[in-house]
Order: sequence, then C-alpha cells, then structure tokens
Amino acid sequence: MITVEQLYEKLRPIRVGSPLCEFTREHCAQLLPTIQRIEDLKKEKNAIILAHNYVAPEILYGVADHTGDSYGLAKIARQSPAEVIVFPAVRFMAETAKVLSPHKTVLDPNPNGGCSLADGINAGDVRRLRQEYPSHTFVCYINTTAEVKALCDVCVTSSNVYKIIEAIDNDNIYFLPDKLMGQNVIDHLASKGVKKNIAVYDGTCYVHEEYTPEAIDFVRLGDPQVNVLVHPECHPRVVQRADYVGSTSGMLNHVRESSGDTFFLLTECGLTGILQSEFPDKRFIGSCTMCKYMKANSLEAVLAVLENPQPHQIIELSSEVQKNALRCVERMFEYAEPGQARPA
Ligand code: 13P
Ligand code: SF4
Repeated sequence: MITVEQLYEKLRPIRVGSPLCEFTREHCAQLLPTIQRIEDLKKEKNAIILAHNYVAPEILYGVADHTGDSYGLAKIARQSPAEVIVFPAVRFMAETAKVLSPHKTVLDPNPNGGCSLADGINAGDVRRLRQEYPSHTFVCYINTTAEVKALCDVCVTSSNVYKIIEAIDNDNIYFLPDKLMGQNVIDHLASKGVKKNIAVYDGTCYVHEEYTPEAIDFVRLGDPQVNVLVHPECHPRVVQRADYVGSTSGMLNHVRESSGDTFFLLTECGLTGILQSEFPDKRFIGSCTMCKYMKANSLEAVLAVLENPQPHQIIELSSEVQKNALRCVERMFEYAEPGQARPA
C-alpha cells in the first residue's frame, strides 16, 4: 500500500481536478485510513479498481490498480482474473466492463455516472434510425449504454475511431452519438482521399463542445512553441488547429514522447492533473473544465461500494443485451488489434 510520503509526492504537483487541490502532507495523512480500508477490502474480495484518467487524483494515485482511457480500461476488464471490478468512472464504462466480463461482479461507485453523450440516445432512437438507414453499418462510440451497443454493429473509442471507420467494408456508415467526433472522422477521411458516406447523430459532450479555436489562437500568440493537444470530441475547428488529436491516454503518451516543454490541453482537467504529477518539469496550460459526472466519484464512494454494494451499483444486463453488446464490442477489438485471441 502507498505511504503518506509516496502519496504526497504524487499529489503535490497537482493543481486541478479535486476538491482537495492543492494537496498538503496533512491531507494525504487524512486520506490514509480510507485508502487502507479499501486496500484490505480489495484483498478480501479479490477486487481490482479501474479508474478513468478524469477521476480525482486521490483515487488515481491512492487506490487504483489501473488507470487509463476507455479503450485501455475495457481491455483490462476483459483480461483481468479478478472476481470483482470497481470502476470509478461513468456508468457506460462500468457497463462495458460487465459486457466483456459477464461472470465478474462489476460495481459502479458513482452516484451520478451519466454522460451527456451516452444519455442523449436510447435503444428506441437506434431502432428508428436502423429503419431509416437500412444499408448503413452502425458504429457506436463507447460512450453509449449497453442497450444502444447491443443494437449497433461495431463499437469504437477515441483511440481507434478513425482507423476502424476507415477499415469497415461498407461505404455507408451511421456514426452515433457524437456529431463533432463524426464530423472529425469525415474531415480526416476526406484529407486522406477516402470516400465514405457518413451520417451522424446529433449528440455532443458538454465539456468538449465548449472549447473554441480562439482559445488556441490566444495561447499560441503568447507562446508560438506551445503543443496543442485535443480530444476528438472537440469541434472540428478546434481539432484542425491541434498538433495532436487523440484519446486521453494517447495525449499522455504524446507528452511522454515529446521533447516539447509547454502543452495546452483541450480536454477535461483530470488529465492535466495526471500530467502535472507525472511530468513536474513540463508546463501544462489546462482548460480547467471538469466533467461533473466523472468528478462525482470519491474515495468514500469507492469504500462504500466495496463494503456494502447497493443493488443499483451492481451492473446487471439482460442476456439479450449482454450477448449483442458483446458482439459489438468484440468487433472493435478485432479491428483495433486484429488476431488478438479472446481469453477463455
Ligand atoms: P477517452 O477514451 O479518450 O479516455 O475518453 C473518454 C471520454 O469520456 C472523453 O470525454
Ligand atoms: Fe461524457 Fe463528456 Fe464527461 Fe466524457 S467528459 S464522460 S464524454 S460528459
């Protein structure tokens, strides 16, 4: 288990993403009894904690066994031998873990685990659209409920959406629910001379849609060398100005590999916190926008769900949804990492 000193070293450089920022040694010492209790329960229940890059740093550095983007965490949920998965993130990510590991107990500690994208489309919408677009391949972003995935053909994440849509053997694609990501795919394929007829749904992420190209111009005026990192949920005019476009873990890896020393991040502030901790000698200009859904997670909620999970916190899916959503998500792995055998 992590010590007060180790936790303090990790949390000290962070200036965003938690009600506790900035962290003192005393704060870290106060967190330790909760962390200790969570670690004991993890051992007792053969549980692991998968935490998305956007959740509070005291979860990421205090108790998480794995942190990452939605693709990386789904892959770990699919492969892990643990009997219980606690998933501090948002509901659709916990549901995806259950889809991929139906025999594990998946626990969602989040009291408000929505997502403006996942909440903006339901199974009825997809049934109606499938009638309207009968010859289209339906591609859903992972930010959808399991019920919606069950009605689609292939799932994608921000780390593989361009590659998978390009590879699909149908020129007619319906992409849902993120209209900005959909337009970014259209622009990307057009820039490569790939012709596909892509229809898109009308959803947006309420965090990423707020970023403007003017903000990038303003920051570049002050520092022409700044590296601009953008999530593909942003507006195409923002994406067009980026030096790098990718998933949250993609951005992290980009910083790791970059020789640059100043980065402007157009994504939720949790990622800026991780980067401040991992690369204390580099400078990060974060847009300090928080996802209220991701930030509804807390150490206390993780402890409570491990101690005494309530029925609504235990992910349950009907066998029909389970089977069809699994087909959709497994197709993503086939496209993203061809030949990767499904573990027994
Ligand atoms: P990533 O898969 O890039 O981590 O994105 C998840 C998300 O919800 C972004 O808003
Ligand atoms: Fe959903 Fe946006 Fe929050 Fe990501 S940042 S979980 S897309 S609302």
